This record gives sequence, C-alpha cells and structure tokens, in this order.
Amino acid sequence: MTSATPPVLRLADVSHTYSGQRRKTTVLKSIDYSFERGTFYTILGPSGSGKTTLLSLASGLDTPTKGTISFDGQDLTKLGFGRYRNKHAATIFQQYNLLTYMTALQNVICAMEITGAKPATGSRKAHASHLLEQIGLDKTMTTRSVMQLSGGQQQRVAIARALACDVDILFADEPTGNLDEDTAQGIIDTFRELAHEQGKCVVVVTHSQQLAAQSDRILNLRKGKLTEQVNT
Ligand SMILES: Nc1ncnc2c1ncn2[C@@H]1O[C@H](COP(=O)(O)OP(=O)(O)O)[C@@H](O)[C@H]1O
Ligand SMILES: [Mg+2]
Repeated sequence: MTSATPPVLRLADVSHTYSGQRRKTTVLKSIDYSFERGTFYTILGPSGSGKTTLLSLASGLDTPTKGTISFDGQDLTKLGFGRYRNKHAATIFQQYNLLTYMTALQNVICAMEITGAKPATGSRKAHASHLLEQIGLDKTMTTRSVMQLSGGQQQRVAIARALACDVDILFADEPTGNLDEDTAQGIIDTFRELAHEQGKCVVVVTHSQQLAAQSDRILNLRKGKLTEQVNT
C-alpha cells in the first residue's frame, strides 16, 4: 500500500481557549480539516465566531491550546513557527500593515530581506517590480509612498508582498472588506489564479457571498466548529 501525499495544511483536533481575567472563552472546538494545494478556500462565519483566531493559528502566529497543525505532514512545533512563516505561509492582514513611510516597491523588497527570500534569477528589486506589475500596479504607482495609493492599490501591495516570499499557502483576513465591487473582483481573480495556475493553497476569510461563490470550497465557522458547505 502506498501512502498518499499529506495535505499542505492539516488541523487535527484543534481547540483554542482564551483565558480572560474572569472567564475562559473557548473559540474553536476540536477542529479537523485538511487543506490542499491548488485550491481556493473561503471561510464564512458571523463576527466573533473565531475566524481571525483560526487564521492566526493556521498561519503560525499563535499556538492552539489543544491539537496539532501540520505543514506537508510535519508538525509546526517541529518544523518551527519562524521557518513556517518565512518559507511556507504568508498572511494578508485585515489592516494591510504596510510600512507607510516606504514606497510599494520598498515594502515588497523589505519583506524579502526580512524573510531571506531570494528570487531564482535577478535581483530582489527586479523580482519585486515584476510581482507588482503582475498584480496590476505600474511603475508610477510602485515608486510612490503607499499612503498615496487607494485602498485597492494598497491591498495589491499587501498581496505582492505576501507573494514575494514564494510561499505555499496564502491566508487573507477579509481582504475585500474596504473595496468597491470592481476592485474586489480583481482581487478575487488574483486569488483564483494563484490557486489554479500557481498551485498555491489560498485561504480567505470573508463576509462576501460574491467572493465565497467563486471559491472552490466554502467553509463555515459556527459555534467553534468548521464545516464544509456542500453545494447542491
Ligand atoms: N486575544 C484575545 N483575548 C481574549 N479573547 C479574544 C482574543 N482575541 C479574540 N478574542 C475573542 O474570541 C472570539 C473570536 O474572535 P475572532 O477570532 O477575532 O473572531 P472573528 O474574526 O470571527 O470576528 C471573540 O469573542 C473575541 O472577543
Ligand atoms: Mg476577524
């Protein structure tokens, strides 16, 4: 019998509890789920249901109170959280967290320097420039302070920055929340391409049904449980 390739990301019996001064809040309850490469996932759920918590655990920013998270079959505690975040998983935060005193280009280069990412050919600058262009920002925009870019353009910089490190998994927390419909659609198209043409695993938390409808798999987070929505 041959063993199947492990999923790119696996959550096994994952629970998470926040300990407040007075009481404990269990946000996630024994979640089991496997995420695959080449697939675009969306996670829906009411506000406060634990979506951001789930992303921070899956992206190695926090550790679950119980259970294990593994990348390509390797437990994150063994692989190392720093290594996982640098080489394998990138997160686009709800607030883009761009360095506002830098240009778009500098933001992307800076991320590559911090994570030690080196392009296969050419300089970091050339690679950053290429990524920004690919995602729809031309030179006049990339050499401007990010403060002078629109919300949609800043979102693109955040995506290019996440991609610069050539990760396997891309997480995004409500990435289209502040964008108009056309701009949001452009971002959704980019996520689909990343999954379907570049084989990335893309996991997006959203409130948007429009976005969810275009993903390959829709997950619902409710009362601490993650379930897959079956389209009939
Ligand atoms: N650092 C924290 N300490 C204590 N409670 C928290 C913390 N972060 C989130 N929570 C609580 O956990 C629940 C889920 O929060 P969150 O993951 O942000 O939900 P969502 O992203 O779905 O809105 C909420 O009740 C929130 O108040
Ligand atoms: Mg949230």
